[in-house]
Amino acid sequence: MASFELLLLPGDGIGPEVMAQVERLVQWVNETGEAELETTSDLVGGCAYDEHGEAISEEAMKQAVSADAVMLGAVGGPKWDDVPYDKRPEAGLLRLRKDLELFANLRPAICYPALADASSLKRELVDGLDIMIVRELTGGVYFGEPKEITDLGDGQKRAVDTQVYETYEIERIARVAFELAQKRGNLVHSAEKRNVMKTGVLWNEVVTRVHKDEFSDVQLQHILADNCAMQLIRYPKQFDVIVTDNLFGDVLSDEASMATGSLGMLPSASLGAEDENGRRKALYEPVHGSAPDIAGRDIANPIATIASFAMCLRYSFDLGGLADRIEGAIAKVLDQGYRTADIMQDGKHEVGTTQMGDAILSALNA
Ligand code: NAI
Ligand code: MG
Repeated sequence: MASFELLLLPGDGIGPEVMAQVERLVQWVNETGEAELETTSDLVGGCAYDEHGEAISEEAMKQAVSADAVMLGAVGGPKWDDVPYDKRPEAGLLRLRKDLELFANLRPAICYPALADASSLKRELVDGLDIMIVRELTGGVYFGEPKEITDLGDGQKRAVDTQVYETYEIERIARVAFELAQKRGNLVHSAEKRNVMKTGVLWNEVVTRVHKDEFSDVQLQHILADNCAMQLIRYPKQFDVIVTDNLFGDVLSDEASMATGSLGMLPSASLGAEDENGRRKALYEPVHGSAPDIAGRDIANPIATIASFAMCLRYSFDLGGLADRIEGAIAKVLDQGYRTADIMQDGKHEVGTTQMGDAILSALNA
């Protein structure tokens, strides 16, 4: 039986509350007998700062590097507003992203049929929607040099950001996208602006070559990023996997998420370099933050974190069958009318965090 080490970093605010539901699912996975998951827990964010004076300890970093995957809840909160900049709760997350070289950010936009009316798009456009946006996370215009504002005198200033991409950065993100497509709908859209940007020209060229040499079984479409933004609203179900750069990916992933309802439903994964055994470093976390306004009341929606765990099973542990079952259980409890406060609708049954966990576990055990 395959066995894996999973590091749990619940973090701050609602982080520990939603992660507690994942711990129950870890136990369920172990009971299926299909794999053995061994978990360790550690501190990250404000709670780590309170304990160690750093947003993540060296010991926790070591574990993150050696684990097969990391699951994170959320970090931050008003309690740490006055903490020095480099020790802020977010510094723990940034350190993880950097040291694990997490260059590929995966943001699914899934619309469960029971919630299709909560979408900002018409039900028939989003019902059953399942797309994956693969955003390059460590390069591009957010990091390129020069990056500066110069004073030109006479009240005029000049601001510069620089978009830089090298071949290897595009190759590795393209491979992630094609590999994902092979486990999904076998279709990749590559979004750039080759009509006006040199990085777009190189992006197009490299993705085309990686496709031809390594993934010719997957269908590839090139699309201009602005057209992609329009198509996501016009008819989102035409997409399976979209691969794009850091800036376009930031915008397109937020745009696509609006199809799906609440922040409490959105999972994510960040994948890194392959280790010596060909296994990718990976961090799974909900898109939402620590929600201090509702923390400590057992009312947060745990589905974003549970769906992140399903991604972990599928992409890090090759347990796609169990991931399907968890996603099926989420769909089922929503169909049955269970709703946390953030997704509550008339006539449905309002439940808290633990009760939502109970409902998902009973659906799995039914
Ligand atoms: P947030 O995502 O924590 O909350 C935004 C709104 O959505 C709040 O009204 C919250 O109650 C609600 N919400 C979020 N997750 C929910 C869930 N699972 N169930 C039900 N309702 C949910 O973002 P906000 O308020 O801007 O930031 C709060 C703190 O979280 C800040 O300290 C911020 O820096 C941090 N943060 C951390 C992130 C991370 O750990 N990756 C990401 C975003 C923010
Ligand atoms: Mg954003």
